[in-house]
Amino acid sequence: MNFSDSEIVTSILSQEGYEYTRDLALADIIFINTCSIRENAEERVRKRLEYFKSLKRKKPGLIIGLLGCMADRIQTALVEEEQLLDLVAGPDAYRHLPLLLGQVGTGRKAIDTILSVDETYAGITPVRFDSNGISAFISIMRGCGNYCSYCVVPYTRGHERSRDAGSILNETSDLFTKGYREVTLIGQNVNSYRWTSPEGNMDFACLLEKVAAVHPMIRVRFATSHPKDISDPLLHTIASHDNICKAIHLPVQSGSDHILERMNRKYTREQYMERIMAIRRIIPGCAISTDIIAGFCDETEEDHRQTLSLMEWVRYDFAFMFKYSERPRTLAAETLKDNIPEKVKERRLREIIELQQKLSYENNNQDLGKTFSVLIEGESKRSKSQYFGRNSQNKVVVFPKTDASPGAYITVKIVRFTSATLIGEVVKS
Ligand code: 5AD
Ligand code: SF4
Repeated sequence: MNFSDSEIVTSILSQEGYEYTRDLALADIIFINTCSIRENAEERVRKRLEYFKSLKRKKPGLIIGLLGCMADRIQTALVEEEQLLDLVAGPDAYRHLPLLLGQVGTGRKAIDTILSVDETYAGITPVRFDSNGISAFISIMRGCGNYCSYCVVPYTRGHERSRDAGSILNETSDLFTKGYREVTLIGQNVNSYRWTSPEGNMDFACLLEKVAAVHPMIRVRFATSHPKDISDPLLHTIASHDNICKAIHLPVQSGSDHILERMNRKYTREQYMERIMAIRRIIPGCAISTDIIAGFCDETEEDHRQTLSLMEWVRYDFAFMFKYSERPRTLAAETLKDNIPEKVKERRLREIIELQQKLSYENNNQDLGKTFSVLIEGESKRSKSQYFGRNSQNKVVVFPKTDASPGAYITVKIVRFTSATLIGEVVKS
């Protein structure tokens, strides 16, 4: 989400004549794009700002701006008390950046953290930097209306709103023409995508189908799905298109009903399992990944064991795993006690990570001897004589270089593996 925001900001400022550089020594303006979803992200930002302040001592005209989710929360402290910042812009204020930059140094505070009900940055073509030229993210929604009790997103990024379907399709075609071969449609809960226009209503399944129809050679991925909204019709759409990838990210957060209710996730363990069975039934061979939080308020050893047993049951291919950190303003911060000792959270998280490593390894073992169509993304970081890419299931595959170039599809047979990577041989170019 954050990465996509940086691309939007770069696009807005390029149109005003500003140039993008990665070289801090060359920069006259430094923006730090922030996320406050977990606590350690905020600590990292503060450290980084201290460093930028030292740069400013050497180059007094340097402008330092803070963008994104943390803007609203820490603006006052950082601008006034610590004087670390010249400019602050929240996630819906990027179109005002040229104006805000003009205000720096005039005595007027260059701060805009107002959240919008309709800003989606439709019509802004993000400048793709740090890109391999093959795969790109397309933001299709902003904000979130789910109010999971631990989560700060609805407060920092505002209400859920969908982006104009036409602008998403244009962006996909444009990327394809420029040589891109994979797009990932991103939003906090893509399943609740809705676009109403005079031509009719469009839901996520319909959007996915239209994006896939841009060209059969472009792969389509999406994230994140909410278990309460992932419907059978959507699963059938995924199953019936070769270029819609067979990988679903379905955050479970906890395997215990007692905790799911406290988290305000709006599904039970049983309902979640029913959705997993539907995925297995409708899309055989589909990879499933998840997000898990360890040590949420009132989590007992039994709740934790339920999370481990659900992981074993689903046999996730991949997981993002976190220790609960209380975020200000959330429902949990206001109504529940963050009462699991740090050491217990750490131990539970460790057990979850160890189990996931075992599951990833066992799942990769199942891929031994199988052949996959792999989209070549570039040279492997470990060896100049090898390429890396991904299969439809989003697994990284490494294989010896051939004449084919990045952006091409290649058939690879898996001959070895680790818990993170599949290693293969080229079957045919
Ligand atoms: N503490 C720990 N993890 C969190 N996440 C969101 N908020 C918190 C929090 N307060 C995790 C969830 C979510 C992912 C993006 O970040 O697992 O799915
Ligand atoms: Fe946060 Fe829940 Fe929305 Fe995800 S669905 S962004 S966890 S509130």
